[in-house]
Amino acid sequence: LNPAGDNLAAIHIREALSDDLPHLMALEQRCFQGDRISKRQMRYLLRKAKARTWLLSCGSVVAAYCLCFTPALPRPARIYSIAVQPEYRGQGLATKLLKAVLENLFAMHYTRCRLEVSVGNQSAQKLYASFGFRTIEKLPAYYQDGADGLRMEKDLSEGI
Ligand SMILES: CC(C)(COP(=O)(O)OP(=O)(O)OC[C@H]1O[C@@H](n2cnc3c(N)ncnc32)[C@H](O)[C@@H]1OP(=O)(O)O)[C@@H](O)C(=O)NCCC(=O)NCCS
Repeated sequence: LNPAGDNLAAIHIREALSDDLPHLMALEQRCFQGDRISKRQMRYLLRKAKARTWLLSCGSVVAAYCLCFTPALPRPARIYSIAVQPEYRGQGLATKLLKAVLENLFAMHYTRCRLEVSVGNQSAQKLYASFGFRTIEKLPAYYQDGADGLRMEKDLSEGI
């Protein structure tokens, strides 16, 4: 897939390495207006934190990423960020990436996955709902801009 919607470039999903920091910062810059992960925090998340990050490439372009916190079991895994480059949206890439991430988390023995999403982010909420994520809590003024959030959870043992 490329921005023109051609099915030419091969899609590849792999785990991010420390060397991918520039790719991740470029994605973060292009995909989010506020509440961005800083370079310092991203470096820490890639190297030291209990976290795993996956990248989706279309040909040679890193088009999307998903970062998950992976605490000690039995705590749930938590998707901290997922983003697709603007010109690659609406082509099913987030769906492919999220499926791969949830399968990896299940293989790591997580039975629950949580995330937070802004009440105004309809596209993300639809994506999560399509995987069976359910709202478990409302989070007033959760975001930097004062927007409310929703905490959603999926039971991975129900299937992905
Ligand atoms: C949310 C986001 C990751 C979706 O990526 P994407 O690759 O476009 O998503 P997909 O093409 O896999 O679409 C999955 C579903 O999401 C919904 N969706 C995607 N784009 C949408 C849009 N613009 N409007 C409404 N729903 C949309 C649809 O229900 C879609 O299912 P469909 O293909 O059956 O219609 C992407 O829009 C993005 O990066 N947004 C900015 C970052 C962000 O908000 N991240 C989530 C919060 S951390």
